[in-house]
Amino acid sequence: MDRDLIRNFSIIAHIDHGKSTLADRLLEETGTLTAREKTDQFLDKMELERERGITIKAQAVRLKYRADDGKNYILNLIDTPGHVDFTYEVSRSLTACEGAMLVVDASQGVEAQTLANVYLALDQNLEIFAVLNKIDLPSADPLRVKAEIEEIIGLDTIDAVEASAKEGIGIHDILEEIVHKVPAPKGDETAPLKALIFDSWYDAYQGVIILVRIFDGTLKKGDKIQLMANKKTYEVLKMGVFSPHPVEMASLGAGEVGFVIAGIKVVADAKVGDTITHLHRPTETPLPGFKVVKPMVFSGLYPIDTSDYDLLRDALEKLRLNDASFSFEPETSLALGFGFRCGFLGLLHMEIIQERLEREFGVDLITTAPTVIYKVTTTGGELLQVESANKLPEVQFIERIEEPFILASIHVPNEFVGAVLSLCEEKRGIQREIKYLTANRVMVVYELPLNEIVLDFYDRLKSISRGYASLDYEHLDFRESQLVRLNILINGEVVDALSLIVHRDKSQYRGRDLVTKMKEFIPRQQFEVAIQAAIGTKVIARETVKALRKDVTAKCYGGDISRKRKLLEKQKEGKKRMKQVGNVELPQEAFLAILKVK
Ligand code: GTP
Repeated sequence: MDRDLIRNFSIIAHIDHGKSTLADRLLEETGTLTAREKTDQFLDKMELERERGITIKAQAVRLKYRADDGKNYILNLIDTPGHVDFTYEVSRSLTACEGAMLVVDASQGVEAQTLANVYLALDQNLEIFAVLNKIDLPSADPLRVKAEIEEIIGLDTIDAVEASAKEGIGIHDILEEIVHKVPAPKGDETAPLKALIFDSWYDAYQGVIILVRIFDGTLKKGDKIQLMANKKTYEVLKMGVFSPHPVEMASLGAGEVGFVIAGIKVVADAKVGDTITHLHRPTETPLPGFKVVKPMVFSGLYPIDTSDYDLLRDALEKLRLNDASFSFEPETSLALGFGFRCGFLGLLHMEIIQERLEREFGVDLITTAPTVIYKVTTTGGELLQVESANKLPEVQFIERIEEPFILASIHVPNEFVGAVLSLCEEKRGIQREIKYLTANRVMVVYELPLNEIVLDFYDRLKSISRGYASLDYEHLDFRESQLVRLNILINGEVVDALSLIVHRDKSQYRGRDLVTKMKEFIPRQQFEVAIQAAIGTKVIARETVKALRKDVTAKCYGGDISRKRKLLEKQKEGKKRMKQVGNVELPQEAFLAILKVK
């Protein structure tokens, strides 16, 4: 394979700026997709992704393109996941490329995620060129957006193609730009093998499928390989490229991108960022940048119908086969029964997994409020990692608690800056910077505790900015903080599923809020029900559900038998959806309503 004719590139864009639509157009223009396949966005494989309009799995597609110079090029389009939870995966996919096409919506302009991705691409020393998409829209203003790109990113836009993925405008020019702007890959075919894993997933028939970029050496079918991070060895059973359907090949050389199947059973053994080398002629140093990603956000997942427990466990196991960054372990709750404590990279990752469980596996779930991971030092000098309020030791045993902080960059039009600042202040933010990118676009940078972000920050941000604000964040560090465990008690019994770790200053408000909400959902019973919020033994809020005045069922017992039976049937049905806390029966909806953090 002539390396000079290879171009490895990626498309980077803010969510919804048209990356997938544009990618499909490139496939179409180069004849990679047949007419029948055009209807669907091919790169967004899973149904779920299509519905949510986001790209989760990175993919690599080989396009053949005969350029205006008469030469036949191989263009490897490497798709990247489009959300902040997957920054590490994005950075590994970008490492596999020499260039990146920056797509900016000509009616919107530069957004937080545009910038975050540009920085990632710059970190990998990629050649970047801009494309303005959606010029068919009446509100498109390519001149303004070009000026913005020059001003904010410092990228020359003199050659920037004005395109419409929807109308198919500018697609040929984009292909020419790829050929001319993206450098050909370098590498030594005769050197020891160095191949980067930039994506991997589980396939029921083939086992784990790995996407690789070969930097040095040549990989052949039948080769004995070693994965450098975990030292495990395998034999290459099958390899090839996606075009976009799999095409088997006997070898892949330096500069090339393709898939490898080597009898690997779980994705955790083929981690993104790891280096593959030959067992018998290994490279001395792995490729830099490998990292084991750890879950940052946790929540309890419980089946609504307790008989679904096994189904849920099987489903979680299946998901973990395919997702090395997702974790789970059994957990029991007095109020919710048997379930699992699950760890996710971030909120979106959490939502995706929950949705897949409900949709693909048919398990109805109750999800407890998301929490982050805390570092707790006990008075005995022990260091604990606590990811659930119920595991937080009693206050007298805690020496100090540290919580994770993030650095958030929020992009917002001028008129909403005030609202964004007050939201960040309310969320215990520390202001780092307010920067006017252009006359009307502002970048607000705050240090924020992740614990405040996981509750409702993103939704609040969107609503106060009428959807215009965009958020990007990176993890900073752990900081000591005045955190307490807030318990909700029903007639003196702690409802473990509702316990929260909150900042002391917020505890009063949160406690009152929870108690009031709880009251709405608890039906009157034969006796008075006290709902309290407490920190340790100190009650900070209380509501009471008054007892029923008289026994309404009493009069039925004198009546006819069929009515009585009906009543009993009804009660039985109702029971299923009740959870017992102490002597009080709580309707399932009470938990659903309170725990649904929307
Ligand atoms: P993520 O996968 O979430 O990163 O989004 P994306 O950047 O891949 O965006 P996608 O291609 O899904 O497009 C987002 C929306 O913009 C869709 O509704 C597209 O139909 C629409 N869209 C894409 N390109 C154009 C265009 O050139 N003009 C117009 N008018 N709409 C477009």
